[in-house]
Amino acid sequence: MTSNRDVPFGIDFGGTGIKGAPVDLASGDFAAERVRFKTPSPSTPERVAEVFVELLAAFPDSAGPVGVTVPGVVRHGVVHSAANIDKSWIGTDADALFTEATGRDVHVVNDADAAGLAEVRYGAAAGRGGLVIVTTLGTGIGSALVHEGVLVPNAELGHLEIDGYDAESRAANSAREAEDLSMAEWAQRLTRYYRTLERLFSPDLIVVGGGISKRADEFLPLLDLDTEIVPATLRNKAGVVGAALYAADDRG
Ligand code: BGC
Repeated sequence: MTSNRDVPFGIDFGGTGIKGAPVDLASGDFAAERVRFKTPSPSTPERVAEVFVELLAAFPDSAGPVGVTVPGVVRHGVVHSAANIDKSWIGTDADALFTEATGRDVHVVNDADAAGLAEVRYGAAAGRGGLVIVTTLGTGIGSALVHEGVLVPNAELGHLEIDGYDAESRAANSAREAEDLSMAEWAQRLTRYYRTLERLFSPDLIVVGGGISKRADEFLPLLDLDTEIVPATLRNKAGVVGAALYAADDRG
């Protein structure tokens, strides 16, 4: 039998905050109230590890595996890219560093992959077969490719080159803010972006996450696409829930 102590724990490491909670995998919700710390600056792996130790100390009853999201490519626990985080992450064996620092069984996963797993298991794409592409629109564009419930990790579709640009530099929510685009202007760029995904992958469903997805009714109806596109439903829980799910499922 699984005791409370074995409940997996999710940590969402983002640019401004580090959030964590134990997760009830039956419901896909937090098993205890979430705790949030400010992301240290600079957010080097070592300084982030110190925050994780503090965060986990707030849950003395939790002893299960820990999943951690990182906004970069993660292969076998090693971080291989750092588009929007401190460059010192590149080459870091984050699984080993965090396991050593916390004394817990830690598994690191790309942030969008975690969100994708959570949306497919519990959220906007629950019960959907075929190919689901989950995108997160934030500082960058994150992406998760999930086929029949199975994740193909590190898709990195935010960095497709479109019209000579790194796609996220034109279509991420940060580009909308930086260039003060109207929703109609941004929707044109998103249409160009998602049409490229349609052409390359022929997905059955596209899910749009990231903080701005709570305003989906202001821009999703303006997109001109053939594929069904829906807002994420787990919102800011997706990272924590997906990380915990990944840690619990991880056999690597
Ligand atoms: C990174 C991805 C990440 C995404 C969202 C991109 O710039 O390359 O790994 O998932 O931003 O944070």
